Amino acid sequence: MARLIIVSNRVAVPAEGKDAVSAGGLAVAVKEAFSSYEGLWFGWSGNIVEDPDPEPTLIDRGSIQYAVMDLSPQDHKEYYAGFANRALWPIMHYRIGLGAYSRSDYSGYQRVNQAFARALAKLVEPDDLIWVHDYHLMPLASELRGQGIANPIGYFHHIPWPAADVFNTLPASSELLRAMADYDLIGLQTEPDVQNLSRNFIDTMRAIPLGGGSLMVDGRRTRIRAFPIGIDVAGFKEAADKAGSNKVVRETMAGLRTRKLLIGVDRLDYSKGVPERMEAVDRFFASNPDQRGNVVYIQITPKSRSEVPEYEQLSREVNEKVGDINGTLGEPAWTPIQYVTKAYPRPVLAGLYRAARVGLVTPMRDGMNLVAKEYVVAQSEEDPGVLVLSKFAGAARQLPEALLVNPYDRFEVAEAIRQALYMPRTERLERWKPMMERMAREDVDWWARNFMTELEAFRTVERQPPRT
Ligand code: F6P
Repeated sequence: MARLIIVSNRVAVPAEGKDAVSAGGLAVAVKEAFSSYEGLWFGWSGNIVEDPDPEPTLIDRGSIQYAVMDLSPQDHKEYYAGFANRALWPIMHYRIGLGAYSRSDYSGYQRVNQAFARALAKLVEPDDLIWVHDYHLMPLASELRGQGIANPIGYFHHIPWPAADVFNTLPASSELLRAMADYDLIGLQTEPDVQNLSRNFIDTMRAIPLGGGSLMVDGRRTRIRAFPIGIDVAGFKEAADKAGSNKVVRETMAGLRTRKLLIGVDRLDYSKGVPERMEAVDRFFASNPDQRGNVVYIQITPKSRSEVPEYEQLSREVNEKVGDINGTLGEPAWTPIQYVTKAYPRPVLAGLYRAARVGLVTPMRDGMNLVAKEYVVAQSEEDPGVLVLSKFAGAARQLPEALLVNPYDRFEVAEAIRQALYMPRTERLERWKPMMERMAREDVDWWARNFMTELEAFRTVERQPPRT
């Protein structure tokens, strides 16, 4: 069996005795990609140690081998918290004003990519395919080529690719684009992302379009295509079907009594639009006073990237907003917003989605947003809920039957909440059915197969010269 090497910043190594973790998005996607290959998963161990070993630790679990690298405190600060999450992340999400570029962070980002490439190059065999994931590792192919690796290398960008004028505000943008051209195949979430990156190559690097999504950049051919990521539909549906017996789900439903539930589930990140959504809910109660006491909004928001100042600031902002709204609107017997920062396992979330009449997924900008897809898949035909979805989430392109909203307009979101709560079952069903069918067709297996079929094609392409 041929071997596939997956590289990502985080690696979900299962506990001893298990051969897979039941974790979220990337882990499910990687498991799917490995289903027809022998697998090696390479990346950060999650450990931060003084003086990390330049060689990876190798761990065998079932059919997958893991090779993980530790980071030093300086690596973590510059590569992960600094360049990846304070410079690239905000710019990729169109938040130029939040971008905090520093030369030392950028050199830390390059240093870690070089260290990963040096360590990985020693493990690569001639027939391996390599699939790199996400913005932490944009220059990895270029570093691997520098180590003499000529194997097909694909890259999937899980987050948005902004318009060229936005990306080009990043001081390192040209260098990064140039490095990206060393991938044979670049996958993005949506068609507009593909247009943005292709235009960026053409305008900034004088790339020549060759048709069919291929471009000639500095004498090397690279192919750019949209591969919208999906979810494990069968597994998530089964979890939602069984969730009634789960204690957290049962207790939440008992606590609701006859009240209708609005639910939001997001990592605490400014791209997710959590404070803006809370303002929209506040607006909804202001203009629908008869609904006070009849509707509860549960927002589950595990903290993330707390070492990044913008995330700490957001955490304070959300706490304040919840306090303000609950203090002003609440009654001793009714709390309008129940805000929880704990992370819940997927089966619990599946049950809460099933119980919620309205799923609120209103990011200011999002590459895809798998919560939107999970909410749809968790619904039942007997009584499907309504998805209120930001038109700036990649998922909106595959879920046009949702109530699509502009998250910057709290009046529009408040009106969509009202419409969702009053929507008759016939309309809810009419909207839900085509979305469910599309989710089942375009699931995570479809995504991984499409990407791997394209990457496989590069085996037969003559080995390309390194860029001139
Ligand atoms: O959406 C991009 C992403 O990097 C995901 O791959 C990941 O699950 C999520 O953000 C969380 O980010 P972090 O690894 O920084 O906690």
